[in-house]
Amino acid sequence: MSDRVNRVVLVGTGAVGSSYAFALLNQGVTEELVLVDLNKEKSEGDAMDLNHGIPFAPSPTKIWFGDYSDCKDADLVVICAGANQKPGETRLDLVEKNTRIFKGIVDEIVASGFEGIFLVATNPVDILTYVVWKFSGFPKERVIGSGTILDTARFRFLLGEYFDIDTRNVHAYIIGEHGDTELPVWSRADVAGITVAEWLEQNEQYKQEDLDQLFLNVRDAAYQIIERKGATYYGIAMGLVRLTKAILQNENAVLTVSAYLNGEYGHEDVYIGVPAVVNRKGIREVVELKLDDEEKAKFNHSVNVLKSTMEPVLE
Ligand code: 2OP
Repeated sequence: MSDRVNRVVLVGTGAVGSSYAFALLNQGVTEELVLVDLNKEKSEGDAMDLNHGIPFAPSPTKIWFGDYSDCKDADLVVICAGANQKPGETRLDLVEKNTRIFKGIVDEIVASGFEGIFLVATNPVDILTYVVWKFSGFPKERVIGSGTILDTARFRFLLGEYFDIDTRNVHAYIIGEHGDTELPVWSRADVAGITVAEWLEQNEQYKQEDLDQLFLNVRDAAYQIIERKGATYYGIAMGLVRLTKAILQNENAVLTVSAYLNGEYGHEDVYIGVPAVVNRKGIREVVELKLDDEEKAKFNHSVNVLKSTMEPVLE
């Protein structure tokens, strides 16, 4: 066993950030966790509160509230800071405000001498991941966005429920913008090794219109939750922990993250949700799925929406 200690710095201890910290501690993923927030009192309180749970955790995690200088020795910096959607707002509505906030944050992290991996969760996540890549000057492999990891989880959960099969035996992806133009890759979806098309052929209790509605529930899940409780945080927090594990434990796990496209799927110079192999170095490679024509058209539309939203902000 190496005596290398993993350090994660979390920037932004709002609902998503503090749920992530809690989930990380519960799963014993890192030896050190540093909390950074503009509201020092809040992150100090969180550090105290989380520390009191350590006797119940599967392995010890050293947790403290710190500042950007702690990023110097970090393996991973996870950014959850920024404004979130109010009821009725889209993720893209947050772009200007959060880009401004990010400029300051990224400058401070880079100035610390940080040489690890950035993981971005703030919305609109695809654009803000691009912003971090641009502002930091880091190689594209070391800047990752949470992308459609949560949408894919929602999709797998609902498909598992529909076919009454454990969600871990569902292989299906949501790709594209983490937002209103995302799309399901039906042509590649399988449940227990049986394609979704085969499930429909084999049993008339399963219907295409149910599946169409199922996808709408995935796409609109955040709106439905925000309407009810003001914000979403547990699902994304667990998705971020999954990504953290894939990175720190060098898993080569395939997860739908916001990755930089450099010709894959026929696009370049954009961060968008696609399946990618994630390991200790960040994004090893983008997995290029063979999409059918309808999926291709939807994906192209999603790329165009992201690019046209991003352009005026980055000018
Ligand atoms: C979500 O999808 C709001 O992006 C957040 O839950």
